[in-house]
Amino acid sequence: MIQCDYNSAVKRMSRPSRLALVVSQSEDGRANIITLVWFMRTSKEPPMFAISIGITRYSHKLLSKSRKFVLAIPSIKMAKQVLQCGTTSGEDIDKIKKFNIKVKRGKLSDIPILLDAVANFECKTITQIRSGDHTIFIGEVKYSWQNENENLNQLLSIPENKNYEVLAKDGRYVLGTVK
Ligand SMILES: Cc1cc2nc3c(=O)[nH]c(=O)nc-3n(C[C@H](O)[C@H](O)[C@H](O)COP(=O)(O)O)c2cc1C
Repeated sequence: MIQCDYNSAVKRMSRPSRLALVVSQSEDGRANIITLVWFMRTSKEPPMFAISIGITRYSHKLLSKSRKFVLAIPSIKMAKQVLQCGTTSGEDIDKIKKFNIKVKRGKLSDIPILLDAVANFECKTITQIRSGDHTIFIGEVKYSWQNENENLNQLLSIPENKNYEVLAKDGRYVLGTVK
């Protein structure tokens, strides 16, 4: 074991990682999607998720006002869209329209669920905690959805090596699946 700088050690732990898309909504009813790797399950009863959102993101503004969100787990079908949602801001564009993201109305609110995801969780925000340059929003799951295709794999943030297939790449972001 050798001591090193923080970034080198983090690089060793951060790939592969699961990905999530978080859908939130503005006061005028327009939904927006952000790509995340920083999310986790935090309670079983009741079921809860935590998501960590940079304070400069447009989604941060929306999540701070509207106390609901949808957490979607993207499938391999969504590789390009996941990169697009993670490299553009909803302040400037309507990502759902521009990137042809298939949506359907959920049960909790007007915030849509994503049809090409492997699963969707409709959440009510319970609390939030500032963590440096991010805010952790904690949501309680009210309704859960799964894709009817059980063989549809989830998309991952991957290392570039022979064990993984690259499906989309943009600079430091590499997305794909296990071979
Ligand atoms: C693979 C990937 C993972 C990301 N993970 C996070 C994350 O965990 N938290 C975060 O705040 N931003 C994360 N981002 C960056 C946001 O998705 C990005 O800044 C996005 O453009 C913000 O959109 P918005 O301004 O519409 O909210 C990630 C981006 C990518 C491509």
